[in-house]
Amino acid sequence: MTETLSQNPAALLRWYVDAGVDETIGESPVDRLAKRAPSPPAATAAAAAVAPATAPSASLTRPAVAAPAPAAFAPSGTEAITSAVHLAQAATTVEELRAAVESYDGCGLKKFASRTVFADGNPRAPVMFVGEAPGADEDRQGLPFVGVSGKLLDRMLGSVGLARDTNAYITNIVFWRPPGNRAPTDEEIATCLPFVRRHIELVDPQVLVLVGGMSAKTLLGTATGITRLRGHWHQYESPGMSRPVPCMALFHPAYLLRSPDQKRFAWRDLISIKQKLATIPPV
Ligand code: URA
Repeated sequence: MTETLSQNPAALLRWYVDAGVDETIGESPVDRLAKRAPSPPAATAAAAAVAPATAPSASLTRPAVAAPAPAAFAPSGTEAITSAVHLAQAATTVEELRAAVESYDGCGLKKFASRTVFADGNPRAPVMFVGEAPGADEDRQGLPFVGVSGKLLDRMLGSVGLARDTNAYITNIVFWRPPGNRAPTDEEIATCLPFVRRHIELVDPQVLVLVGGMSAKTLLGTATGITRLRGHWHQYESPGMSRPVPCMALFHPAYLLRSPDQKRFAWRDLISIKQKLATIPPV
């Protein structure tokens, strides 16, 4: 008779690690039988504005790991989003924004993360990449895309003459690693979003690249999946920007590592990004 995973604890553990579930703990014990308070309605509405992930993005295929219920972590809900909006709007430079994000306690992810992962690269670069969420390597180093998928992203950028230390700038939709690499919740995304939007305004890139389905759907405000979003130029608009920014969605490198046959599509999109950049006169 075939042995199942549950009859072989070592194989089960290996399976979890291979699937990316490398942490099982929170900082304090969690009473999972205790009743949970319902989310404040306004926060739910704000979070609902953020489209749910339905396409091949890095987060989708991440294992569904139940996060430890965050203990009291103020502010929360609407208050947290309002505070993020005020803090983000008050920042007039990228460095002020970084300080604001680092001091912000309204996103529940921060409690479980070791480091804030704000950005890497040249903030004056013509192209800005927005990924999804930091993983374990990013959490350790405090920089986006420094793990295995980051290495692939660097190679992808290099193939079209881009590099984070010269002409590319990289950030994420959330600034803290979700425990066990689970997908960020709508509310976690909603608390980071005012900072991300302000980040794009302040960097004011000539071209915006949304890496992965979650990033693309969130910033384009659509439920359409990455498979249909990629390959076309979109416009990213923001009241704080003088003009719409040409915007391309790109398959997430973590997805490409799992589905190498899709790399040809990413390659086409990278060529299109390179061509678009070539049409824009340097500022
Ligand atoms: N995946 C992301 O989307 N962002 C990172 O920073 C790392 C991996």
